[in-house]
Amino acid sequence: MNAGIVGIGRYVPEKVLTNADLEKMVDTTDEWIRTRTGIEERRIASDDIDTSDMAFYAAEKALTNAGVLAEELDMIIVATVTPDNPFPSVACLIQERLGAKKANAFDISAACAGFMYATITAKQFVEAGTYKNVLVVGVEKLSKITDWQDRNTAVLFGDGAGAAVIGPVSEGRGILSFELGADGTGAKHLYQDENIIMNGREVFKFAVRQMGESAVNVLEKAGLTKEDVDYLIPHQANIRIMEAARERLGLPEEKMSITINKYGNTSAASIPISLVEELENGKIKEGDLIVMVGFGGGLTWGAIALRWGR
Ligand code: UT7
Repeated sequence: MNAGIVGIGRYVPEKVLTNADLEKMVDTTDEWIRTRTGIEERRIASDDIDTSDMAFYAAEKALTNAGVLAEELDMIIVATVTPDNPFPSVACLIQERLGAKKANAFDISAACAGFMYATITAKQFVEAGTYKNVLVVGVEKLSKITDWQDRNTAVLFGDGAGAAVIGPVSEGRGILSFELGADGTGAKHLYQDENIIMNGREVFKFAVRQMGESAVNVLEKAGLTKEDVDYLIPHQANIRIMEAARERLGLPEEKMSITINKYGNTSAASIPISLVEELENGKIKEGDLIVMVGFGGGLTWGAIALRWGR
């Protein structure tokens, strides 16, 4: 049995924070942010919208898109580093709100690679035949752990959620291969100590190397080559890191998703948000080979080669 994505949904808050707004908050310029990161604006959740609210909205859309009822869910996995509270998990909060009575539920912490970790975990249960419908959500309200006085980090992050239902798909479709990895020796480069602390240059170097390498590895594992790739969805952390991954795969510009300009870095939410947008834009079609690749605090990384369709 093959596991794949059978439905998707996303939610981003309405409030837009532009680079011009940030110029008034920290010593930065629109020019610096655009050229160094590719970000033009990001969404910020209001005080009355917490992580579980965004997760719930994205999840509802994914269920509708999949044609799966909440009561049919067997498992809910939420990838986040900004839960409403350390416990209960965001997964339990949305289980109740969705009415997914028979689903077990838990959160995982793998930072920006979280959606890759959650999706691969779901795949194992589906392919083993244990479960049929698993909801995975990547969601962050990074604005609540951002130091708005620190220009090194304040310009980078945004809030949002993306969700997918992982279930059985026909032969040749779905997740063809994956890679997951971690290197705890790099934990010191990106962590939360009340707010986000980051050694940007170290994370940058790691990301440029790892994104390209993981993308190539999943292709090899699937018995495919760079030429087979129809679309690349990289974690939206920095346009320069993303371009490096695209060049490593030898892909033309139009074959990579760019949503960082609108949403900034939404951590675990960035890959599923981008996936939804590119499907809506008609960039991804039935039968396309998609490579998704993420990296983040931990340090962690993950990649998936997926043949789109049910
Ligand atoms: O999801 C995973 C999480 N994180 C990442 O993926 C981040 C990876 N790293 C990056 O994206 C980049 O390293 C940054 C965007 C964070 C920084 O870009 P950079 O090209 O590596 O800049 P830098 O840290 O080398 O700093 C260059 C200069 C410094 O000034 P000096 O020392 O050359 O005088 C910084 O102080 O830019 C300065 N700077 C800024 N200037 C204006 C740093 N932040 C800003 C800012 N506005 N917001």
